[in-house]
Amino acid sequence: MITYALGGSSTEIFDPAVGAGAFFRAAKTVISIQQREIKLLGMELDPESRQQALDTGLSVGDLREVEFRDFLLNPPTRVFDAIVANPPYIRHHRLSQETKSYLKHFGTKLIGKSLDGRAGYHVYFFLRALQVLSKQGRLAFIMPADVCEGVFANTLWRWVLDNYRLDAVITFAPEATPFPGVDTNAIVFMLRNDKPRTTFTWAKCLSPNDAKLSAWVDSNFQNSGIGIHANSRTIKEALETGLSRPPSNGVPHGAVLGDFAFAVRGIATGANEFFFLTQARARELCIPTEWLISAVGRTRDVPGEWITPDTIGDLKASGRPTLLLSLDGTPQATLPEPLRQYVKHGEELGLDKRSLISSRNPWYKMEVRTTPPFLFAYLGRRNARFIRNLAGVVPLTGFLCLYPRRTELDFIEKLWNVLRDPETISNLALVGKSYGAGAIKVEPRALERLPLPESVLRRWGLDWNPTPEQLNLIGA
Ligand SMILES: C[S@@+](CC[C@H](N)C(=O)[O-])C[C@H]1O[C@@H](n2cnc3c(N)ncnc32)[C@H](O)[C@@H]1O
Repeated sequence: MITYALGGSSTEIFDPAVGAGAFFRAAKTVISIQQREIKLLGMELDPESRQQALDTGLSVGDLREVEFRDFLLNPPTRVFDAIVANPPYIRHHRLSQETKSYLKHFGTKLIGKSLDGRAGYHVYFFLRALQVLSKQGRLAFIMPADVCEGVFANTLWRWVLDNYRLDAVITFAPEATPFPGVDTNAIVFMLRNDKPRTTFTWAKCLSPNDAKLSAWVDSNFQNSGIGIHANSRTIKEALETGLSRPPSNGVPHGAVLGDFAFAVRGIATGANEFFFLTQARARELCIPTEWLISAVGRTRDVPGEWITPDTIGDLKASGRPTLLLSLDGTPQATLPEPLRQYVKHGEELGLDKRSLISSRNPWYKMEVRTTPPFLFAYLGRRNARFIRNLAGVVPLTGFLCLYPRRTELDFIEKLWNVLRDPETISNLALVGKSYGAGAIKVEPRALERLPLPESVLRRWGLDWNPTPEQLNLIGA
């Protein structure tokens, strides 16, 4: 990142979130190799990080130009030729209402459109940095993949790529991650404040090798060689596919899963420890069986592609919960005695005051799902997968429920074959959000956008009846 940012003729480098100073240390190394004089400039919110920076080898002199102030609220009044940062990664639900509305206002003013409220702090940090990048200046930021995969991503990148030149996007295979053990898919973005171009370099690092990566950046992204897979991509295709994802032939406009099925998240109990019971616990509490339904909680509880009565039997035998207390709106007073007692116990534990639960009336009333023929394990370490539900269970929030739009058995079986097809599974990367160690998360609406390749539909004999809008898109 330093190699890129200093690739121009800058005589200084600015880090708006200095922290313990990893970039300053890297800059010193690069400067000494290149025998250049570079001024280290920075900002940092937390004064305590100064000591960490000193402890990790920087000198008082190196930190002389670091200002301890808020880069977002109180930005510099000048511009910089080289900016580099690992911005604070704070997701939207951890921001105060006040901060959120400040950021929204700032973003709207800058890009002329408001970004969806799910954009995190780092997104605005990035925008603020672009704002203080001088003409021809270079910026390198490392950020989580959500900046390319969140609902706000398209608005954000359309503006960025209309106004700046994207030189490179560098992604990392799980084995090469710059942050081992952190549940984030980190991506490096290298941009210039210059006229946008129609293409850029997109790379994937396959092994952790700083020197090789640095030399490649230094060669102006030319000699990638072993360990770095690089492609030239058009901005247009990358915007459609998503900058975090490998190149595709654009998003296919053919059939999507939503044409054949719809997805709903699994049941959120609000207190699994109370509502999701083992067989022994349900027996101990004398809960009448008509209030209990068979359920699965953790994705780990379903190791394969099928849930059969045997799967549930194994879970019971190993003492895992499999029974969901599924109460309806029956008033407490008319519930059978053991249930009345248990509900009272829940109130003693203060469950009725919990945020999700307190919105229900009565508080113990459980969400209802029809048994889905398919489940989808939506957050997995490289194994997001579809599951055939042959045990009549309902899932909790570790899974999505997938309901075919038609009920004939023949249709369901054909759809099952399509869902299991490796080509279908590989398309999950086109709609999912990526996390550390290759994990991918797919939410209900995104799952419905999953492209189903025509060849796969043909292979399994599933007929597709495009809507007039789809016919238009495929030019039929
Ligand atoms: C991910 S860390 C940066 C790590 C740094 N590159 C290093 O080597 O340690 C983000 C840093 O941003 C700082 N920070 C958070 N909000 C900030 C703000 N509004 N302005 C400036 N710095 C901020 C945090 O205190 C933290 O040190």
